[in-house]
Amino acid sequence: MSGLPGATAPGLPGWFVVRLPAQDGRAHAAGDRAGRAVTAVVEWPATAEGLVELYPRNPAPTLRANFIASLDGAITVDGLSGGLHGPGDKEIFESLRMVCDALIVASGTVTAENYDALRLTEPAREWRLGRGLPEFPLMVIVSGSLNLNLDQLIFTDAPIPPIVVTHAAAPAERLSAVADVIVAGDTEVDLAAAVTELNARGATQLLCEGGARLMATLAVADLVDEVCLTVSPLLVGGGPGRMTAGAPGTARRMSLRHVLTLEDMLFLRYVRQGS
Ligand SMILES: NC(=O)c1ccc[n+]([C@@H]2O[C@H](COP(=O)([O-])OP(=O)(O)OC[C@H]3O[C@@H](n4cnc5c(N)ncnc54)[C@H](OP(=O)(O)O)[C@@H]3O)[C@@H](O)[C@H]2O)c1
Repeated sequence: MSGLPGATAPGLPGWFVVRLPAQDGRAHAAGDRAGRAVTAVVEWPATAEGLVELYPRNPAPTLRANFIASLDGAITVDGLSGGLHGPGDKEIFESLRMVCDALIVASGTVTAENYDALRLTEPAREWRLGRGLPEFPLMVIVSGSLNLNLDQLIFTDAPIPPIVVTHAAAPAERLSAVADVIVAGDTEVDLAAAVTELNARGATQLLCEGGARLMATLAVADLVDEVCLTVSPLLVGGGPGRMTAGAPGTARRMSLRHVLTLEDMLFLRYVRQGS
């Protein structure tokens, strides 16, 4: 499977992680305080298979969010996430896309980041087909106003028509030639209903790539099962927002599954407590 996204040449720069002593006297690597198995610190995988093992498809329906942020929490540099990227995060980004059933992104990000259609590499498509998955994941765009540019590649270059999740009061007719529509909610998008509908269509492994307002709404509705956060070694300063924006929610603790590092980048995987 060499050539798959995530494959990394051997001989990577060394990494060092110092683990603080467990407060309760038990080794962190053996499990968390509730005794569940946890792999806290792992070496950057040398193969694509290793990356898939670290970010697997889950047996249960899962909504996984993937974000990148600077040391001081900024999710953009000069208005885009591109300035935060570094070694390793592209491999994880592509691997998460490869294993998901549906990629969810909201209209603000589609527009700001000028999202392309969801096209995987040939090895990634083969990986999916070899496991009985459709060649491409579904591309799902969340929009209430439907103020979308239908000439954007996300529509015109799509290998399969994207799904637009909207509400019943939205003018969805204009999408009929370029997208399938899921109506969830009467006057605003009901994300819980949308997730239920996607699950019912067989898309149980959902990957959310943002943006911040979508992430906040998902978090407030307690729909986020997993957060994959890349910490980029930059201090950006004031200005950019963080990975949630909007109405405040209830703080919810999550469990660390692993820490990965490559050069100065840090890759964290947190999951819903108890899962
Ligand atoms: N660092 C990273 O990992 C990362 C990842 C993604 C994005 N970003 C950055 O985040 C910024 C975009 O984020 P954003 O917060 O402005 O926009 P966003 O979350 O991508 O999109 C928000 C828009 O989605 C639509 N929407 C419909 N129903 C919604 C609901 N229930 N909840 C939330 N949104 C709903 C609304 O627009 P309409 O109803 O008008 O369609 C809303 O304004 C960009 O600067 C992008 O570069 C960074």
